[in-house]
Amino acid sequence: MTGPHVLIAYATKYGTTKEIAEEIQDVLTENGIESDLINVMERGIIDSYDAVILGSPIYMGKMLVEAREFCQHYKPDLADIWLAIFVDGISCCPPGDKKTSPLIAAIDEMYESVNPAMKKVFAGDFSPAGLSEADAQITDMVHPPIGDFRDHKDIRTWAREVASAISEHIV
Ligand SMILES: Cc1cc2nc3c(=O)[nH]c(=O)nc-3n(C[C@H](O)[C@H](O)[C@H](O)COP(=O)(O)O)c2cc1C
Repeated sequence: MTGPHVLIAYATKYGTTKEIAEEIQDVLTENGIESDLINVMERGIIDSYDAVILGSPIYMGKMLVEAREFCQHYKPDLADIWLAIFVDGISCCPPGDKKTSPLIAAIDEMYESVNPAMKKVFAGDFSPAGLSEADAQITDMVHPPIGDFRDHKDIRTWAREVASAISEHIV
């Protein structure tokens, strides 16, 4: 008998969310769960997976458009596949200081397309270096906190919770 097969699909502009997704994949592997990691823009057939973990950064209060399109495109499949969604952003940073509810709201906004079994907000990473001109103009106006606020313990703890939920769900 083979174990669950999981798809981890991430959207990213500057790589942070991909790295979080990779960390989650490492934890799944440590827990004996096989997974494939893809960018949400790599469209394929997903109905052979037992579970999907979707990750997106938050930009201007929303999940990245390609992550939203992924939900819309795969809505029929995702109605039957166990789903977890995580987002990362800096409006909850420094962690512990600020509320995560606006970021959860960005996930909840997807409710017409998908209904995730698990949702999570991670503190993200923001640096003004290397931003596109448009992003630099936006962030110049709002002066966001600068730094890599990722909490790797938090990421790994959630990934373990996801691993047990998937193992329990897929028997
Ligand atoms: C133009 C711009 C807008 C952003 N808007 C938000 C936002 O609305 N809420 C938030 O929490 N973080 C916001 N962020 C921070 C990103 O979500 C954070 O840096 C994230 O970790 C980046 O992930 P990525 O490298 O995978 O794209 C914004 C960053 C930029 C550059």
